[in-house]
Amino acid sequence: MSTEPLEIHLEPGDLDRGLRDDVRAGLSADPKWLPPKWFYDARGSELFEEITRLPEYYPTRAERAVLAGRADRVAELTGAKTMIELGSGSSEKTRLLLDAFTRHGGLGTFVPLDVSVSALRRSTAEIAADYPGLRVRGIVGDFTRHLDRLPTGGRRLVVFLGGTIGNLLPAERARFLADMRAALEVGDWLLLGTDLVKDPSVVVPAYDDAAGVTAEFNRNVLRVINRELGADFDPAAFDHVARWDPDREWIEMRLRARRPMRVRVLDLDVRFAEGEELRTEVSAKFRPAGVAGELAAAGFAAAEFWTDPDGLFGVTLARAD
Ligand code: SAH
Ligand code: AVI
Repeated sequence: MSTEPLEIHLEPGDLDRGLRDDVRAGLSADPKWLPPKWFYDARGSELFEEITRLPEYYPTRAERAVLAGRADRVAELTGAKTMIELGSGSSEKTRLLLDAFTRHGGLGTFVPLDVSVSALRRSTAEIAADYPGLRVRGIVGDFTRHLDRLPTGGRRLVVFLGGTIGNLLPAERARFLADMRAALEVGDWLLLGTDLVKDPSVVVPAYDDAAGVTAEFNRNVLRVINRELGADFDPAAFDHVARWDPDREWIEMRLRARRPMRVRVLDLDVRFAEGEELRTEVSAKFRPAGVAGELAAAGFAAAEFWTDPDGLFGVTLARAD
């Protein structure tokens, strides 16, 4: 079957409005922050793909190892007719699931959803070409806002990989899981990838690589704001910072001003003191009991929990109860 045109639930105007609201709220706050979804323009999506190939960035390899061993079990247990992928990006690891469903039979439709039009355009074309029996229906949307618009009918499996759930703050995460459960019927499934708590000596380099790719990814959010909102950030005047928070068990990415700066964006006159830090992302790491507890609180029953041989990354298969 051929690729269908992307279904647009986020028009450029919505994206602009969302970015404007977030920039106004985050850059007026003390300390300053920005939500991570604005990293992912075409360049940001490419930089993320580059990150996944870095020697220090273990999550992609570890999650791939889990999926390689368990994809057949996922296909067998869920018997899904429709697979929906949130924050799908390149859907590279998802191919392990598509291959398993091809062996198992029964999956008719694949629905990747992402804010990044460029990533989605590419992945839908490539997957439709490589899986000719599959209906591929890409959705440009925001998984924090558009879960009520997921396709209905037939047994569904929602996959949310990469540990992207960890980029939501705890309250956002609880709301996301509740919204997810509300969008599903009893008996539908959720396959959730979560990076696990481990020694900071492993986590920190994954977010501060020697080649500086993560630093460029981090600065990309400033380029997006310059281009989309006509701001005058000097990205080169910000240092990349990756800091482990032992209490909250998450890593934070920040941008630290090298000198005092004044940035004009929208009608704001944003001042940075020398050394001031802007938080651009949190990436929470999880404990198995915590994942099961958060899922249960949202109305999911964890059926299986798997890790890679090194215990770096967890994948949970849960059923809507
Ligand atoms: N799932 C892929 C990609 C992870 S990168 C993997 O495991 O490698 C995170 C992806 O989520 C990016 O493609 C980004 O564009 C997307 N994303 C981030 N925030 C989003 C949001 N609020 N709604 C939809 N997609 C989002
Ligand atoms: C998409 N997400 C799970 C990545 C992460 O590891 O939190 C984004 C990323 N940030 C820095 N490197 C990768």
